[in-house]
Amino acid sequence: MTIDSHVKIFDTTLRDGEQAPGFSMSTDGKLVIARALQALNVDIIEAGFAAASPGDARAVRAVAEEIEGPIICSLARLNEKDIDAAAEAIGPARRKRVHTFIGTSPTHRDAKLKMSRAEILGKISTLVAHARSAVEDVEFSPEDAIRTERDYLVDAVTAAIEAGASTINIPDTVGYTTPEEITDLFRFLISEVKGADNVTFSAHCHDDLGMAVANSLAAVRGGARQIECAINGIGERAGNCSMEEAVMALATRKDFFGVETQIETTKIYPASVALSRVTHNPIPRNKAIVGRNAFAHEAGIHQHGVLADRRTYEIMDAEAVGMPSNSIVLGKHSGKHALAARIKSLGFEVTGQRIEELFPDFKKLADTAREVTDADLVALVSGNTDHDGRQGPWRVRRVELRADVDDDTRPFARITLKHDEQDERQTVISEGEGPIDAAFSAVCAITGVAGRIAVLDLHHIADEGIVRAEAIVAVGEERYTGTAHEVDVADAAVAAFVAAINLAAGVHAQRRAVA
Ligand code: KIV
Ligand code: ZN
Repeated sequence: MTIDSHVKIFDTTLRDGEQAPGFSMSTDGKLVIARALQALNVDIIEAGFAAASPGDARAVRAVAEEIEGPIICSLARLNEKDIDAAAEAIGPARRKRVHTFIGTSPTHRDAKLKMSRAEILGKISTLVAHARSAVEDVEFSPEDAIRTERDYLVDAVTAAIEAGASTINIPDTVGYTTPEEITDLFRFLISEVKGADNVTFSAHCHDDLGMAVANSLAAVRGGARQIECAINGIGERAGNCSMEEAVMALATRKDFFGVETQIETTKIYPASVALSRVTHNPIPRNKAIVGRNAFAHEAGIHQHGVLADRRTYEIMDAEAVGMPSNSIVLGKHSGKHALAARIKSLGFEVTGQRIEELFPDFKKLADTAREVTDADLVALVSGNTDHDGRQGPWRVRRVELRADVDDDTRPFARITLKHDEQDERQTVISEGEGPIDAAFSAVCAITGVAGRIAVLDLHHIADEGIVRAEAIVAVGEERYTGTAHEVDVADAAVAAFVAAINLAAGVHAQRRAVA
């Protein structure tokens, strides 16, 4: 790889990402993400904004102390106090960078900073030099660069380079630019700025118009060799350029972009899941690269094509981004080819005639559940299920939950179930992270099935005054779907969980009977 074909990945999940509402992280949470970024082999981790609060400074320092490999960076406004706080926090890192910024657009100059063009240029010269005296690696950003006059942008960037900045980041702070415009801007800056050859130009795009990834890639076409991005595209307002989308676009369309990153792509999905867990924000199902649907095919015509040759409808392998591959999702749009293929892969020898017979029952089953699992199919093939497929030996008799507990007591649930073939009801009290989690533990304790909730969907249907719950429960390697309708949300969640557990309890016996 020549130096020119390498695009650096500067990850700002822990800074721009973390500053977005709903995404704040504790120091421990930040360390979990920093480890995921280390595994991804990102070039630079922007670990936080040290001057923002003592907690931020502690978190940056903790990342600097532990993480090896990537450069550890802290953001700083263009003033001595911020720069010193940043330099201090990244102190323990082997490789470190201070990223300092000031607004340069007319709005920022007049409304926010109340400073003249010349005053800002003076500050850039003095304070970038101050940052350089603290660390060797300094990045400078003219905030709102996209809305800054081009001649003044050249002056600001030139002043930063002369003062010692080695990375010039061009932020589209408000997500306003377009691909053609940003390609042109990078070409312009690289040709007009004195000293441009000796620095790395970087793009920092926001997603207000849904173009952050396209704009970042277009900046690369214009000569940028660093992309600032965040896992799952989190960041201020609509977010930043999504790391996984930019990286996979460059990898999948290397023929077009002609550049490469050093990202270990198989670590993308684990990092995305880690972020979702740490911040308690689900990954949207249809999210490019990391959403559950990104490599799933349900429509019959697509499934037929993928079964014949996966390249028919896939441009990347799920495995390449570290996602467990189970690309054929059986649902109400699936056709007979997919049904036959999955039944065969489960070890059943079935004729075409048998598939014809099973198909109507499969469609009825698919109508009641979002996803038909392997366990559902085993029950179907063995002819041991009615059409809703949710019958089983355990019935819910009572659900009592306690959430309003004091600091010393964990949430708990008291659950009573009745087995069809036993006279006595069984009651168990369990603790959990929350009352529903406690209820699921109690169900597992009573039934003896070690289930783990994988997906829980709850929909309040206002017209009917009921809650529809769907639980997908993992038992070992297998997943079982249970659905339920109840008036109360907690009752619905527990009943759906029990329906899935019922299915799990029955499936192994059914499978043995068929074999
Ligand atoms: O969006 C922005 O302008 C920023 C800068 C601080 C780089 O996040
Ligand atoms: Zn930003």
